Amino acid sequence: EKGGWDSFMDKEIHEDPAAVQRTLLGRFDDSGAIELDEVRIDEHDFKAIDKIIVVACGTASYAGQVAKYAIEHWVRIPVEIELAHEFRYRDPILNARTLVVAISQSGETMDTLMALRHAREQGSKVLAICNTQGATIPRESDAVLYTHAGPEVAVASTKAFVAQITAAYLLGLYLAQVKGTMFRDEIRQQVDSLKDMPRKIQWVLDTQTAAVEQAAERMANAQSFLFLGRHVGYPVALEGALKLKEIAYTFTEGFAAGELKHGPIALVDAGEPVVFIVPPERGRSVLHTKVISGIEEVKARGATIIAVAEEGDKDVQRYADVVFWRPACPTLMSPLVDVVPLQLFAMNMAKIKGYDVDKPRNLAKSVTVE
Ligand code: BG6
Repeated sequence: EKGGWDSFMDKEIHEDPAAVQRTLLGRFDDSGAIELDEVRIDEHDFKAIDKIIVVACGTASYAGQVAKYAIEHWVRIPVEIELAHEFRYRDPILNARTLVVAISQSGETMDTLMALRHAREQGSKVLAICNTQGATIPRESDAVLYTHAGPEVAVASTKAFVAQITAAYLLGLYLAQVKGTMFRDEIRQQVDSLKDMPRKIQWVLDTQTAAVEQAAERMANAQSFLFLGRHVGYPVALEGALKLKEIAYTFTEGFAAGELKHGPIALVDAGEPVVFIVPPERGRSVLHTKVISGIEEVKARGATIIAVAEEGDKDVQRYADVVFWRPACPTLMSPLVDVVPLQLFAMNMAKIKGYDVDKPRNLAKSVTVE
């Protein structure tokens, strides 16, 4: 079943490119327009949507957090991310113009299910982004957009994460199409960028694995890690931190890089490993400059810098002790590649420590209690 891999996690990380590719498959008509046939909310209702609330837990919530940046930019409506277990206990503001998006790999997470039931009771439409055909969450939703990542066996989610981002981006572009907030050409350009990503993820798997393995050997005894990112790199940092704590049982914290000086820098001591998700140099170069200055600040305090950065980034070359390179891609697409070395890093750390990477202690694949 593991198809030659020594763990399901290893196999599933290597299915990241296919998970994105299969999630894009069959979602366009002959003219290239986005067609989401499992979405049974009529176009009129879609046009009226003026707010999105994503409800999810764990990795799925970070996929939603990534999608917020893209959807707000493309559709110009507010997107909120709410941990499903916080949602219904705070009397959220819901109406027919709010689309609630429930993201869940298993489709059985009780916290997420209770959140969507609450949303429907309050008159909102619910769209599920789910990896499991016929699970409870898609069955109880008004619409479903399946991620076609294939069954995910390892408890720590990997390929489902990239598939969830892909599906949420498709939803965003579909909304932009229906609401007319983007020109057709602009939509097509984003779709083309998405279609390029499986190849870019494959490049990371083919060329960065050795560097990741070496880094894990070098850091195996570290007591804690900080993960920092800005913009879409922020949820990627949170996901990288989650992977490492889930399966390598290492204390990790993910922060928005801009918060560094507002607290986390107090934790930085000589030798502390700090992982930076560095945005592309082009385009949003302000972000790049700011992340680099964060690197300089922690470097000055003796931290060990691990960077995920674009190939050829000279600033990163200057300061980082370890670099996992990404091929050039638009900022909004970068999470699809940047998470891959972090998944591999967590897996390698866990293996070096002798842990079962597929079945981490105390965790379950789907949590069906609230
Ligand atoms: C957790 C799993 O308990 O549930 C995580 O260990 C997962 O890996 C989270 O991200 C949400 O699960 P699901 O199935 O709703 O995506």
